[in-house]
Amino acid sequence: MPTLSASPVPLAWPAVPRAVPATATAVVLDAFGPPDVLHPAMLPTPSPGPGEVLVRVAAVCVGRFLDVALRAGRHPVKPALPHVLGVEHAGTVVALGPDVDGIAVGQHVAVWPVLGCGRCAACAEGSKEACPGLRIAGVHSRGAYAEYTAVPAAAVWAIPDDLDPATAAGVALAGPVAMNQLRQAGLRAGDWVLVAGAASALGSTTAELARHLGARVIGTSRAAWKRERLLELGLEAALDPTADSFVDDVRGLTGGAGVAVAVDDLGDAEIFARLTAVLAPRGAIVSSGAFLGGSVPLDLARLYTLNQRILGVRTGDDASGRALWAEVARGFRPVVDRAFPLEQAADAHRFLEADDNMGRIVLTAGQE
Ligand SMILES: NC(=O)c1ccc[n+]([C@@H]2O[C@H](COP(=O)([O-])OP(=O)(O)OC[C@H]3O[C@@H](n4cnc5c(N)ncnc54)[C@H](OP(=O)(O)O)[C@@H]3O)[C@@H](O)[C@H]2O)c1
Ligand SMILES: [Zn+2]
Repeated sequence: MPTLSASPVPLAWPAVPRAVPATATAVVLDAFGPPDVLHPAMLPTPSPGPGEVLVRVAAVCVGRFLDVALRAGRHPVKPALPHVLGVEHAGTVVALGPDVDGIAVGQHVAVWPVLGCGRCAACAEGSKEACPGLRIAGVHSRGAYAEYTAVPAAAVWAIPDDLDPATAAGVALAGPVAMNQLRQAGLRAGDWVLVAGAASALGSTTAELARHLGARVIGTSRAAWKRERLLELGLEAALDPTADSFVDDVRGLTGGAGVAVAVDDLGDAEIFARLTAVLAPRGAIVSSGAFLGGSVPLDLARLYTLNQRILGVRTGDDASGRALWAEVARGFRPVVDRAFPLEQAADAHRFLEADDNMGRIVLTAGQE
């Protein structure tokens, strides 16, 4: 299925420098607060430890929870300050630590730095999303709002030469999460899928992936201009989740049957109630986020009599990562909105907090 969402952000992959500089630019968080707390600084370049690679960053995504909420002090994890934000990113491998095999200097990589402990039963099964010791670079440790990151080789995906950095960063984490959501929900081609917040960074990825996999996708946004853009991308319908007609409209679109899969990463009580009202018998609601609160009403009698499921998906697992990159090879692309230079991280946070984005926002580095 063709995608219409090729990145409008032409970025270059950074070159391997003749010598890695001892210090490099990063954006530092000195205090939790408004976007102004982010400022550029020169920091020592990290050095790759055993099993790690040094990545010269080309693009790093900005997200609502791991970036904006953490910066504002609204994330449950409060890392020691000063901290460097930045989770999913893409760049060029410029040096290898000891004991790294199978990856070469110069390789373009997407980095998904969500790390299981490697020792528990969940990790042994390839299900790091269930690891009690899960750690995320950019949350628990120094992240990728920086020219260089040192990350475990196990967290990088070698990517095809024709992929641009913003696209690679755009799917690095959200891609496996979206794939895991749809797999856990049991998506089949031809199913109706409803994505709440379909213009968001994660929501747009899930909506586009579902469409790419042959689903009929309905997206929601409160903003008319975003709904227009969702229709341009090829969604079957784009609805205002707060409109009085929402439930009737979804029922009308689906011939009265409702949707097989509803994705809710928002956690708003009223929107969730509307999703339950349009969920088909044997359907599944899946959630990977709840930044709007997360306490939602649930009619258990309706749930069990209709044989429905509610699923939490914390992040991707190994299988969803592999499946995601197979779909990237088949043409799946995320929706990339725009890029800000690394030094303008505060502006990127303001842009996201104003709900002005349609898809992914990235910060760029290494552009000569
Ligand atoms: N588990 C994971 O690995 C993972 C990864 C990424 C994101 N997430 C989660 O996904 C969610 C979205 O994050 P993101 O980075 O994708 O967000 P984002 O790009 O900043 O988008 C935010 C979305 O929230 C909607 N929104 C904001 N205020 C709202 C309100 N008062 N009522 C209804 N909708 C509202 C906006 O919808 P409009 O279009 O209507 O403005 C927009 O779609 C968060 O809960 C985050 O934690 C989870
Ligand atoms: Zn583990």
